[in-house]
Amino acid sequence: GDEPIALDSAVSLVAPAAPVRVPTQRRYLMCRPTHFTVRYAINPWMDPSQPVDTERAVAQWTELRDTYERLGHTVELIDPQPDLPDMVFAANAGTVIGGRVLGARFRSTERAPEAEFYRRWFVEHGYRDVIMPTRTNEAEGDLVWTGTVLLAGTGFRTDPAAHAEAQEALGVPVISLQLVDPRYYHLDVALFVLDDRAARPLVAYYPEAFSPGSRRVLQRLFPDAVIATEADAACLGLNAVSDGHHVVLPVEATNLAAQLADRGFDPIPVDISEIRKSGGGPKCCTMELRD
Ligand code: ARG
Repeated sequence: GDEPIALDSAVSLVAPAAPVRVPTQRRYLMCRPTHFTVRYAINPWMDPSQPVDTERAVAQWTELRDTYERLGHTVELIDPQPDLPDMVFAANAGTVIGGRVLGARFRSTERAPEAEFYRRWFVEHGYRDVIMPTRTNEAEGDLVWTGTVLLAGTGFRTDPAAHAEAQEALGVPVISLQLVDPRYYHLDVALFVLDDRAARPLVAYYPEAFSPGSRRVLQRLFPDAVIATEADAACLGLNAVSDGHHVVLPVEATNLAAQLADRGFDPIPVDISEIRKSGGGPKCCTMELRD
């Protein structure tokens, strides 16, 4: 047999491999939903006339915390406070980049006192650079770190003037994005970062949550982004947490999970149905401590 080996055709039968996704160990701050309930409505998800099962919320939250620990991450805890039913949403209480902390200033009077409890936690845990905002700033709810730039949402909660304040306090470039759909009142329910260590960060988002101009900004910055469907967004599927390989997301976000798997990520579904009654998901319960 002098037949030449048909290398070309052998190669063409192999599907292009998804890139290798490397996890990095993370440190998170969380708050047990001991006093979780829905007794005021500050977003369209909240309906105080609907029953909330606090025990079930605690069980779901515990499973989320255990999931992070199983994945090798560290979870720090802050004490929950009575009369602050939304304190479980740690992501809203601070933005930490390179050990610098920008605290929160909540839009609603109901949540306002949370900011001081979190500020104290930072100070008591050795953070030297803690700045409190002078403008409404719901922290990682609206401020999303991609690894190179800070995406900053506005429209419902965080004041656009807080974006400039964040740039000055944290020393990172800020890009403002306009949110237009009240169901997606925070940036972190419309977009999340899949890979913040790559030279070109990779994100997933739901375009309809953004103004036309902001959509064009996102297209320009992230031409290869994962685009979520309406169903993925409507279960708060974009309120997900990625370590660069594992992506913890609501179990209902099945289309998103399939897209992530195609891109080489490992989707880890969790049940957050009780916590969703307040308009939050896994990411809302999780502040990343980027020390
Ligand atoms: N009930 C809370 C609020 O409306 C939910 C916050 C969700 N947190 C988040 N990071 N999106 O303020």
